Amino acid sequence: MASNNLKIDNATLPFLGGKRKMSERISSHFQGETLCDVFFGGGSVSLKGKQKGMRIIANDIAYRSKIIGDALISNSTVKLTDEDVYSLFILSENDGFIEKNYVPKIFIPKVAKDLDNFLANARKRESPKKELLLLLVEKYILSLRQYGAFQVGKFDNEMILEKREIELLELASESRGKKIKYNLSHPLPSLLRLKEQINTGIFNNGKKNEMYQMDCFDFLKLMKEKGERMDTIYFDSPYYNSTMYSSHYKVLDEILEEKTGVKIDDKAFNTKDVLENFEKLFALSEFIPKWVISMGYNPVSETGVRGEELLAIVKKFRDADLYFLEHTWALNNIASKSGKKQEDCVEYLIVTK
Ligand SMILES: C[S@@+](CC[C@H](N)C(=O)[O-])C[C@H]1O[C@@H](n2cnc3c(N)ncnc32)[C@H](O)[C@@H]1O
Repeated sequence: MASNNLKIDNATLPFLGGKRKMSERISSHFQGETLCDVFFGGGSVSLKGKQKGMRIIANDIAYRSKIIGDALISNSTVKLTDEDVYSLFILSENDGFIEKNYVPKIFIPKVAKDLDNFLANARKRESPKKELLLLLVEKYILSLRQYGAFQVGKFDNEMILEKREIELLELASESRGKKIKYNLSHPLPSLLRLKEQINTGIFNNGKKNEMYQMDCFDFLKLMKEKGERMDTIYFDSPYYNSTMYSSHYKVLDEILEEKTGVKIDDKAFNTKDVLENFEKLFALSEFIPKWVISMGYNPVSETGVRGEELLAIVKKFRDADLYFLEHTWALNNIASKSGKKQEDCVEYLIVTK
């Protein structure tokens, strides 16, 4: 098994709302042998639990996360080799999905052609190499983007198409310039580096770990029906009123599923029914003794849920403590203009007794 100081966090994706930095703190509340991570996301908390020797049963509604779980959680032995990375470059017939749909809005033609070819090769492989290579391509795609998002880039791509790279680089800030050069350079060194990151997250904890891709409510019903023994459940749902994961990762989801207009029904915790949906989720989790819940609240953007409000819902089922973690948000001036205090912006954990 991996030693405790091994840097495994980089194996996963730099995920929106991911808990890489807090995973040690969060997992210190886990108890028993089996952890259920019902909103897996980038998987940093499951990976930490796996490192601590717990059996992991993880779930997420999105294929982008299922790939990570299949590569790093249920797979405990197979690693990526340099040859696997080279194999992505074999010329492979494909229908040019990325080139057809995302040039120039998201990618330049060279990158789109490479990605179409990489994915065609990855999809030909058996599991778990297939998922390991898909994770490698996911990581590479996010590394090409500024802030790991898809909202910007068209302007740069159009200038590159017009062969105005030098002019563009003169215009760009240092960090944007770096990204532009990264997009223009050969992908092999980056893929080899990202492969190493993935491999640090693959280790055997001697347990049969599992990854599901289901809606959280259906998943918990299934686990109960199966009589699956679980000791701790970790809830890290999307935050109320924040960016929907299916919007933020729309392009990535379409690329991975090779179709436009992918539908993911992930709004239950983004809408005003959030508290009712938490209550429904907790009712379905009664068979699991320990609950650990991550949430945050930002009074300016009005995202998330106030700790006391969520605690009251948890207390309908069992006694719990509220732990404030850290202030995640540093826009003092916006806070003071709006008359709201920065101290009110918090990440917190609710842990049942
Ligand atoms: C805050 S993120 C989890 C982050 C994760 N703990 C990490 O450290 O990377 C929330 C996740 O919930 C998933 N999700 C949203 N609605 C869901 C639902 N109804 N059922 C299952 N998963 C859902 C999203 O796809 C997203 O990956």
